[in-house]
Amino acid sequence: MNKTLEICEKFYKTKDLSFEDFKYLMDLEDYADLNTYARSLAVKNFGRKIYIRGLIEISTYCKNNCFYCGLRASNKNIERTRLSKEEILSRVAHANSLGIKTIVLQGGEDDFYSLDFLEDLIGEIEDKYDLALTLSLGERSFEDLEALKKLGANRYLLRHETSSRDHYYKLHPRSMDFDNRIKSLFKLKDLGYQTGCGMMVGSPFQTREDLYRDLQFILKLQPQMVGLGPFIPHHDTPFKDYPAGNLDDVLKILSIVRIAKENVLLPATTALGSIDDSGREKGILAGCNVLMPNIGDEKLRQNYKLYDNKIGTQVENSDDFLDLEEKLKKIGYEISLDRGDYKEEGKYV
Ligand code: 5AD
Ligand code: SF4
Repeated sequence: MNKTLEICEKFYKTKDLSFEDFKYLMDLEDYADLNTYARSLAVKNFGRKIYIRGLIEISTYCKNNCFYCGLRASNKNIERTRLSKEEILSRVAHANSLGIKTIVLQGGEDDFYSLDFLEDLIGEIEDKYDLALTLSLGERSFEDLEALKKLGANRYLLRHETSSRDHYYKLHPRSMDFDNRIKSLFKLKDLGYQTGCGMMVGSPFQTREDLYRDLQFILKLQPQMVGLGPFIPHHDTPFKDYPAGNLDDVLKILSIVRIAKENVLLPATTALGSIDDSGREKGILAGCNVLMPNIGDEKLRQNYKLYDNKIGTQVENSDDFLDLEEKLKKIGYEISLDRGDYKEEGKYV
């Protein structure tokens, strides 16, 4: 067994990876063995099937000012739009008609979506459809999170972005609160949400130590999902001149996360597909098992630009589905339209 495989095997068995071994993996020039090892764990847990989550972007308004994101409140150069309840419901109906069984409502931190609004919306979705509902609406009060869970939202995505406090404040203004972000993630788990954290790879000022800390954080939180992709600069942000995260680094860390938690739900993200034409396929071959095509509204798609050169991943009709199926088939995978709930024991149906 070569050294890469030895490290993978030891990490898989002990869930303990020294910084030295982490660095060894991250510095590999040829990391095919790392990807293969992780991929075989994904296949063991999920088969060669990729879960589809229908992503509906609901708002380009955001009260926050993350230095990296095109939706930041201070960016005056984007058109702000949000979907009404009826518009959201119409996209949910559309997703449902395509056979999609899990949807993600994602938006900036927009106070327009009050608890009342969301209660009403989720109530209607729950009444009409049998869908797994994921929210990705940023930090909210713990009371809100609890109420939304009771109503039927079962999953929540909230990337931690970085688990190093110093680094957090290099990416976010002081008006944002690192401790609250981390506390929110533990709260979401406590409340029984299938919880997703995640970080950008190659964000400005990120060191190998920071990334290693992210891995430790994932091991501690034990999230059901991890969303990670490369940082990509946006021209209207303070980070416009920083280089994008590196494809190889993303593919390595994806594999490392898969080995850390073999049954974690791990999407090959749009950002990954945006830095490389076959980035998402490469992500799957590195251990990912989820895709999140955009099934949202055209008016949001035009404006929902967190970073430059964001690829379209829309699935509008059954032809688009066939295209996606075709892409997956080329790498030996197929679409799964199951709900794809997290399973503790790693057995998925
Ligand atoms: N590059 C890559 N990812 C970004 N995000 C926001 N801005 C960028 C960017 N410039 C990610 C953040 C956020 C998620 C919704 O999108 O991680 O949590
Ligand atoms: Fe808002 Fe999220 Fe963008 Fe931060 S990353 S500015 S919270 S949309």
